[in-house]
Amino acid sequence: MLLKCLLPFLSLALKVLGHNSTYQNPILPGFHPDPSCIFVPELDDTFFCASSSFLVFPRIPIHASKDLRKWKLVSNVLNRPAQLPGLNTAKRATSGIWAPTLRYRNGTFHLVTTLVYDDYAINATNRFDNFAFTSKDPYSSAAWSDPVHFDFPGYDTSPFWDEDGTVYVTGTHAWQVDPGIKMLPVDLKTGEVGETISIWNGTGASSPEGPHIYRKDGYYYLLIAEGGTGSGHRATIARAKNISGPYESDPANPVLTNSNTTAYFQNVGHADLFQDRNENWWAVALSVRQGPDGSYPMGRETVLTPVTWEEGEWPIFTNVSGHMHGWHLDSAPPVRQGEGSLVDSSVQINFEPGSVFPPEFVHWRFPTNGSYTISTPGHEYALQLKSSSANLTGSDGRSAEPAGQTFIARRQVHSLFKFSVTLDPSSLEMEEQEVGVAVFLDQLHHYDLGIVMLPPGTSNITSRTSNTTALIPYFRVRGITTVPAFVSPTLALTPVPSAWVGDSLNVQITASNLTHYALSAGPASRPYEQKIIGYGNGLGLTWGFTGALLGVYATTNGGAGEFDTYVKNWTYTGHGQIVEIPGAS
Ligand SMILES: *[C@@H]1O[C@H](CO)[C@@H](O)[C@H](O)[C@H]1NC(C)=O
Ligand SMILES: *[C@@H]1O[C@H](CO)[C@@H](O)[C@H](O)[C@H]1NC(C)=O
Ligand SMILES: *[C@@H]1O[C@H](CO)[C@@H](O)[C@H](O)[C@H]1NC(C)=O
Ligand SMILES: *[C@@H]1O[C@H](CO)[C@@H](O)[C@H](O)[C@H]1NC(C)=O
Ligand SMILES: *[C@@H]1O[C@H](CO)[C@@H](O)[C@H](O)[C@H]1NC(C)=O
Ligand SMILES: *[C@@H]1O[C@H](CO)[C@@H](O)[C@H](O)[C@H]1NC(C)=O
Ligand SMILES: *[C@@H]1O[C@H](CO)[C@@H](O)[C@H](O)[C@H]1NC(C)=O
Ligand SMILES: *[C@@H]1O[C@H](CO)[C@@H](O)[C@H](O)[C@H]1NC(C)=O
Ligand SMILES: *[C@@H]1O[C@H](CO)[C@@H](O)[C@H](O)[C@H]1NC(C)=O
Ligand SMILES: *[C@@H]1O[C@H](CO)[C@@H](O)[C@H](O)[C@H]1NC(C)=O
Ligand SMILES: *[C@@H]1O[C@H](CO)[C@@H](O)[C@H](O)[C@H]1NC(C)=O
Ligand SMILES: *[C@@H]1O[C@H](CO)[C@@H](O)[C@H](O)[C@H]1NC(C)=O
Repeated sequence: MLLKCLLPFLSLALKVLGHNSTYQNPILPGFHPDPSCIFVPELDDTFFCASSSFLVFPRIPIHASKDLRKWKLVSNVLNRPAQLPGLNTAKRATSGIWAPTLRYRNGTFHLVTTLVYDDYAINATNRFDNFAFTSKDPYSSAAWSDPVHFDFPGYDTSPFWDEDGTVYVTGTHAWQVDPGIKMLPVDLKTGEVGETISIWNGTGASSPEGPHIYRKDGYYYLLIAEGGTGSGHRATIARAKNISGPYESDPANPVLTNSNTTAYFQNVGHADLFQDRNENWWAVALSVRQGPDGSYPMGRETVLTPVTWEEGEWPIFTNVSGHMHGWHLDSAPPVRQGEGSLVDSSVQINFEPGSVFPPEFVHWRFPTNGSYTISTPGHEYALQLKSSSANLTGSDGRSAEPAGQTFIARRQVHSLFKFSVTLDPSSLEMEEQEVGVAVFLDQLHHYDLGIVMLPPGTSNITSRTSNTTALIPYFRVRGITTVPAFVSPTLALTPVPSAWVGDSLNVQITASNLTHYALSAGPASRPYEQKIIGYGNGLGLTWGFTGALLGVYATTNGGAGEFDTYVKNWTYTGHGQIVEIPGAS
């Protein structure tokens, strides 16, 4: 009791006297866009964040932290194809799971989001599928429910519990048809909806979206994103005494942006607000680290910024950069519970018998059953891949392939890194059978280094013969991108040196600077012979809404002749996080 009485004073003392903290952005590096975060005192003072995942599966990651600095993947909300069969049919890389909102209410976590079919007509009523997942245990993927769907012809849906218990969902309409922030009451248990009203159209920039409502000091505050998720991105805020409006815009808008600056962290916007144990305010937002060449292949990442929010006043956000100072934070060990690893940990995986894929591993849409098996008899400590007919581009670069695409990957989470696997090309026999590694943004943006069977003489493209009776293994680097447009050109092609044939090969992708990926290979037993086969630039992977994945694929490139192949020693090592660059402020 005494302690309970003292607590407010202790926390006030901390607010006043506690040393401010320093921390580094991004807090969730790599492909973690559209963040939504909460603080849950009831679960041992833990912070939780969700981010969007587009066509990647399993996903909608939940990361947890006790100190806002060390973030661990604890579960994937979307982890069973039966939860959302539609994810497997959505075309176009910009389709899939858009911005989620994570909230905690009376023992239950709620995650509200939208599956967008981005290739449907802009006025198609079935373009947006909105729904809510719930869980009582954020540390278990299996504990996340099936979704409860509700009707709303737009995206970025976010729930707010009013004092009378009514849940109001805000969202934005199909922006090309009827832009502006809309609100409707939704029964999240049944999906029943009430009347939709327009509550705010923002400050006049394009694409008002990403709304969240907060209640403070007798006001409803409505925080939104504007300007589109590119260089004009910004956060703006408005408030009203009545949740239905009228909403008054903050004269200081935009409250958060790096637009029109030379900062390394660009495209800052799409924010969410929460308080810590000492009742200090923080915001998360998305941002990209844009190099001097304009590239940001890691895509949209999650950044954290302190917010000062005095009683009755507008919140004041701190500008986002790499090295941040903010409210006092108690140091704390990483969260113990949960299924994954710290977001920026390096990993080495040997595919031990009886092991399963860590929850960081993802596919592009749903995996084909039986295509990925750990430690088959006779091939212990290896991952067996069954090839797909489709390669990573697929038939048209945008559709789901009926028989899937054999690809398993994880995110690039460091500016500089090395990713390597050991491949065994001995099962490759027919022309265009290929196994390799890729740095992959989506079906139309990836670089691949494959070992592929081709006729001798193929490396001189102009004198290519088609003698298929004497195929030999080649290293081939191919790339496809739309920035600037080029279609599947071969960037490098060279026969596997005869001294390496018959060996297991170490095939790897590194980023040793901010502009290029290097793709290299060598005999696994003689690392000093590793040689670079080709390069891909980061600019070619700077597009759309996703971020770079690193993984392995096996394909017949459209041909017959399905094969099995074995992958060993999956290693991802971070070699540095670059958070500021000379010349940027
Ligand atoms: C909170 O949850 C408990 C247990 O599920 C339930 O009895 C109670 O009615 C809930 N309270 C509110 C305000 O929803
Ligand atoms: C969508 O727009 C097209 C072109 O303007 C029109 O032909 C069609 O009827 C519209 N569909 C709906 C569902 O409003
Ligand atoms: C937003 O704009 C739409 C279309 O111009 C208009 O119908 C609506 O009333 C506006 N909403 C508000 C809250 O001003
Ligand atoms: C809020 O505004 C709505 C719509 O104008 C009105 O029906 C409602 O009574 C108002 N609520 C309060 C608490 O004033
Ligand atoms: C950046 O500058 C342009 C051109 O002056 C302006 O239109 C835009 O609104 C500015 N961005 C922000 C976030 O103020
Ligand atoms: C944030 O950055 C903007 C643009 O560079 C600048 O005008 C503003 O003063 C900065 N705000 C703070 C609090 O430093
Ligand atoms: C501590 O951080 C807060 C939030 O950024 C800031 O307002 C305050 O000025 C800082 N205090 C000190 C002593 O630096
Ligand atoms: C490739 O083949 C063409 C046509 O036979 C020939 O002109 C060219 O010199 C060859 N290039 C190399 C590098 O061997
Ligand atoms: C094809 O390759 C085989 C084996 O190297 C060789 O015996 C044969 O002559 C080649 N055929 C042609 C048409 O070059
Ligand atoms: C990065 O490395 C590539 C390959 O060696 C090189 O072409 C490029 O100029 C380098 N970029 C910078 C900024 O040094
Ligand atoms: C993918 O496969 C198709 C044939 O199905 C082929 O035309 C294309 O070049 C391949 N591209 C890449 C980059 O994998
Ligand atoms: C696995 O790969 C890493 C990185 O390439 C290498 O250092 C290590 O020796 C390899 N381990 C085995 C058992 O081959």
